[in-house]
Order: sequence, then structure tokens, then C-alpha cells
Amino acid sequence: MRIVSCKDYAEMSRVAGNLMAAEIIKNPSCVLGLATGSTPIGAYEHLVELYKSGDISFKDVKTYNLDEYRGLAHDHDQSYHYFMNENLFKHVDIDMKNTHVPDGSNPDAEAACAEYDKMVEEAGGVALQLLGIGNNGHIGFNEPGSVFVGPTHCVDLTESTIVANSRLFERIEDVPRQAYTMGIKTIMSAKRVVIVANGEAKAEAVKAMIEGPIDPMCQASILQLHPDVVVVCDEAALSLCSSVK
Ligand code: PGA
Repeated sequence: MRIVSCKDYAEMSRVAGNLMAAEIIKNPSCVLGLATGSTPIGAYEHLVELYKSGDISFKDVKTYNLDEYRGLAHDHDQSYHYFMNENLFKHVDIDMKNTHVPDGSNPDAEAACAEYDKMVEEAGGVALQLLGIGNNGHIGFNEPGSVFVGPTHCVDLTESTIVANSRLFERIEDVPRQAYTMGIKTIMSAKRVVIVANGEAKAEAVKAMIEGPIDPMCQASILQLHPDVVVVCDEAALSLCSSVK
């Protein structure tokens, strides 16, 4: 794992956005794996700036998002389809046909997940996967548990995730209880992984990811086995890591 320690959220966002931009410059029709949540918003803002200044184009870029709530329509303002449109897609020249998010509106979980894996595979896999990390160490919605699950699958969200995400819903009862998420196989198959985290609230999870045992109770710890991971964090998120100066 390569660890990049940034002084604040702005620097973290710039570094992560630049890594993604470099991928696009290297291969204008690359396949990017995208993440939602508060953490990557700054990286998307940086990418929009680079697009507006003419440094990059998304014209031929293909994107596959990590996850989606089960049961939310695409236009629901808390759906990840909506999030991606608002925070990236509508600001750049991406062809919406090339953007993909698991279909949370399909109640047939098995079909929705199998179809998603097939699409990622047919696209040739992910070149660069952007990830956030949950307070509980989840990546995508791969929640702490007794195993690492390979394929895209339907998960029951843990109470800690429901509580963490309830800040974005009017009432905690409105938070969906299930989601479709890329599994560990697709994430680990990405050629490069860039994982972002900021703030003290993520420090325990970041420590477990970097310094803990490889343990499905911290799903992000599997990334220790990936050959090309860049961990981009602010100082607060790295504050408990004794191995990071
Ligand atoms: P956050 O979520 O960026 O909103 O903290 C990260 C995650 O849950 O993966």
C-alpha cells in the first residue's frame, strides 16, 4: 500500500482527483470504478475543474459505481444514480450510456447483481477503482462479517451504516435496509485502487485497514493483498497509524 498523507480535505481531493485524471489521460476510454459518499465529492469537484479547463475529457470514459440502495428509484435524491449525476456526470462531457450503477430499482436481487458483474466483465474490468471507507471498515457496502464475498450481491446494511447514512435522510426509518454492492472480487480485480478518507471519525477504520490483520470484520483490510493501492488520507484519518510518520 502506498500511503499519501495530506494536510487537509482539499489536498486529499486534489491528489485523488489527479490520480483519476492521469488514468483518463493515459487511456481516454478507460474504465473507472466510482464511489459515492461525502468523502469523494471533493475529488469529483477537482475532476470537473480539470474538465472545464480542457485538461481531460470524459467523452469515451466508462464508469461503474460500487453500489446502490435496494428499492430506491434512480431519480430518488438519495439514490447513488442521482448522486453521480449531481456531483459529476451532469458537469462533464460523459456519455450517459457509458455510466453504470447497480440497478437498485430491480427487486430481483440475483438478476440485478449477476447482470452487473457481466457488464463489468464485458467492459474488461476496472482500471482504477475509487473507494471511500466506512466507519466500520466497509468498502462499497461490503459490511463487516465472517467472510469476504466475491461477486456483486445484495447486503443487509449494518446498524452502524444505517446510523452513519441517516444524516442524509429526513428520518432514520427512511434509510433503505439493503443495498446491491460490488463484491470483493471486482474491487480486488481493479488494476489500481485509490481509497480516500478524511477526519478523525475514520481513524480507527483506516488503522485497521493498513495495520490490522486481514479480517472480514474490516473488509478494507483485504486491500493489503492488492498490488497497487494508493491510500489518500488527511492527517486526522491517519492519526492512529503508528507506521505512518
Ligand atoms: P462517507 O462514506 O464518504 O460518506 O464517509 C464512505 C463509505 O461509507 O464508504
